[in-house]
Amino acid sequence: MVTGGHLQIVVGGAGPAADVSPLVRAAQERSWTVTVTATPSAMEFIEPQPLGSLTGYPVRSTYRSSPGTGRSLPATDAVVIAPATYNSINKIALGLADNYAMTSVAELIGRQVPTVIVPFVNTALAARAPFRHAVASLRDEGVRVLLGADDLWEPHPPGSGNEQRKAFPWTMAFDTAAQLADDSRPAASGHA
Ligand SMILES: Cc1cc2nc3c(=O)[nH]c(=O)nc-3n(C[C@H](O)[C@H](O)[C@H](O)COP(=O)(O)O)c2cc1C
Repeated sequence: MVTGGHLQIVVGGAGPAADVSPLVRAAQERSWTVTVTATPSAMEFIEPQPLGSLTGYPVRSTYRSSPGTGRSLPATDAVVIAPATYNSINKIALGLADNYAMTSVAELIGRQVPTVIVPFVNTALAARAPFRHAVASLRDEGVRVLLGADDLWEPHPPGSGNEQRKAFPWTMAFDTAAQLADDSRPAASGHA
């Protein structure tokens, strides 16, 4: 059975970002602590204050620390990047680190922290060569990208994002991350 740890959720600027709270609660119910990092665009989609109260840590989007919040962050056992935009997926694959969230992600992947990316893109964006190359390159690097028939998560037709938002696979994202974290833990010695 998967034990708890610390989950870092990185939200991008797309509709499902507004629905991240249930993922936080689900993780907490399974003994995980959670922090939320947001891209600058994602700050327009979320409510940072209630999310910060829920996790116990302010939502981080910039390098500036919030006054009065000196709590140091726990070491991260798993990362869920969701919803991941076309923009951020392309940037992560190329190693671009032009904001706090992207820098964090670049470093966590480099440290081989188990990472799950859940894209929220329409079929037009998903058809672009840069995006297809980005997904292939991230998978090649060991990042779990939940996309395609095998993952039961497909790009949606342009204009249908609001409908698709309701089906966003938050639970699958967390279960996959928790499993990856579990798999990457050193095996117990087996001695009593
Ligand atoms: C209302 C709204 C909805 C958006 N929905 C999406 C989306 O579903 N997928 C996506 O890739 N980009 C979407 N975008 C565009 C991204 O927000 C934009 O590319 C932004 O630069 C992403 O920044 P980020 O990757 O740093 O979060 C949306 C923008 C707006 C204003």
